[in-house]
Amino acid sequence: MIVVVDFGSQTAHLIKRRISDFGIGVAIINPEEALSEIQKQNPKGIILSGGPASVYEENAPTIDKRVFELGIPILGICYGQQLTAHLLGGTVKKDEMREDGPATLKLNLSSPLLVGVSQHSRIWMSHGDTVMKAPAGFSFVAESETIKAAAMENIDKKIFGVQFHPEVEHTEHGTLILKNFIENICNLSIVTRTIDVIKIVHVVKQTVGNSNVIAAVSGGLDSTVAAALVARAIGKQLIPIHVDSGLMREGTTKQVKKFFQEELGITPIILYKQQEFLKALQGIIDPEQKRKTIGKLYIDLFDEECKKHENIKFLVQGTIYSDVIESQGSKHSANIKSHHNVGGLPKDMKLTLLEPIREFYTDQVRSIAKEIKIPTEFITQQPHPGPGYAIRILGEINEDRLKVMHQADQIVIAEMKKSGWYEKVLHSFPILTGLKSTSVKGDGRVYGEVVALRIVTSKDRMTADWAKLPYEVLQKITSRITNEIPQVSRVVYDITTKPPATMEWE
Ligand code: XMP
Repeated sequence: MIVVVDFGSQTAHLIKRRISDFGIGVAIINPEEALSEIQKQNPKGIILSGGPASVYEENAPTIDKRVFELGIPILGICYGQQLTAHLLGGTVKKDEMREDGPATLKLNLSSPLLVGVSQHSRIWMSHGDTVMKAPAGFSFVAESETIKAAAMENIDKKIFGVQFHPEVEHTEHGTLILKNFIENICNLSIVTRTIDVIKIVHVVKQTVGNSNVIAAVSGGLDSTVAAALVARAIGKQLIPIHVDSGLMREGTTKQVKKFFQEELGITPIILYKQQEFLKALQGIIDPEQKRKTIGKLYIDLFDEECKKHENIKFLVQGTIYSDVIESQGSKHSANIKSHHNVGGLPKDMKLTLLEPIREFYTDQVRSIAKEIKIPTEFITQQPHPGPGYAIRILGEINEDRLKVMHQADQIVIAEMKKSGWYEKVLHSFPILTGLKSTSVKGDGRVYGEVVALRIVTSKDRMTADWAKLPYEVLQKITSRITNEIPQVSRVVYDITTKPPATMEWE
């Protein structure tokens, strides 16, 4: 097996996933216990993750230097590489400017870590500090436009480091680099692993027994797959509840009703609560506050509904792995956003959570969905965040702005589908920025709202690139929004990658 020492990386779990996709056992451990855990678990390789700290910071997470003397192959990623250099006598420089996003890797020396990687390839960076001088016995084997230490190695000691992130999908040869580490350096054999749906269903059945289970179904793929898996296990013991908050896409409620009735033979309970959500959100402009308010109202509504049914012990949620990581993080990671279905749950909730897809990333959920024959409209639709339009309307939410959002979103979806781009991107949505600008409509001056478009490609949601949409498609969306929605003055296109920017604006 392999251990990943987690220095607080947003992607430590992604490293774990990549390694387990190779059919290799993997455990995440804290730096403080690294030496003792490694001695206990005797892994065939060690990966030192990235992290938000700088090696020179007071209390920066570190490991016992003896880890480097165990003779076990080591791969340091980002902070992991910097810490390796720092602890073994190299130097790390704190840069004024961060580098987040795409860069080009250029190979200088051959290395078992980089076998099969092209001479020039795309990598994904996310760092402030850089290794300037390699420790004795190490050489820099690859560079980027901005740094010499894109990759370093000490072949004799089998210690390697990369400044970029091989675990993220936007690093062109990332999976190959991790595979090289596993096969060429740790001498482990890779076997392809498949997801065992039957096992998931069996575990649900065992856990639930004779109890009834309530499911929060938003209409998104995640909650639909989670509920469908539970329905497979326990049939009509499942009570799906859908809250129409007014913050979801047009047609969502209808789609949910149809699926549960026609495909699963279970009539869902629909709660029409648009006005309650608008009222609860009145005057709230802080994004975290919005998420928590929405989360609390959802849970209160479920709680209230539960009281009308007997023997309910569980609540199904379509939480997936990226929700968990970005909400709770690990010991040393920074909290980015509290996703409502993880961070906002009240501590005294009386139901036990049932989260059958908590271990999976979005692309894995899609393959489960195909396997259990979820209708294609669920699979091909873009994900919609739990708090919905609330976190895409910057500032206060009111009935008028919500109406503008519904109109703008429908236009974006329609034009993306018409141009064949809808399914090529992960997200394409408008944001009401809350900014006002001048426009001339007809013969009059309109001081209207600026709408931004966020259209991004991403497989696992941990990194994202902006979609290089043809100008004609952008033009069509813009013309339609400004012509058809009187309150909008202009449209701008967001071309920021993730990182540094998150996909949602709030
Ligand atoms: P960010 O903005 O964090 O988004 O880069 C990553 C993915 O998560 C979705 N997202 C959410 N989903 N509750 C959710 O259920 C939330 O509070 C939330 N915030 C972001 C976002 O749409 C994207 O797919």
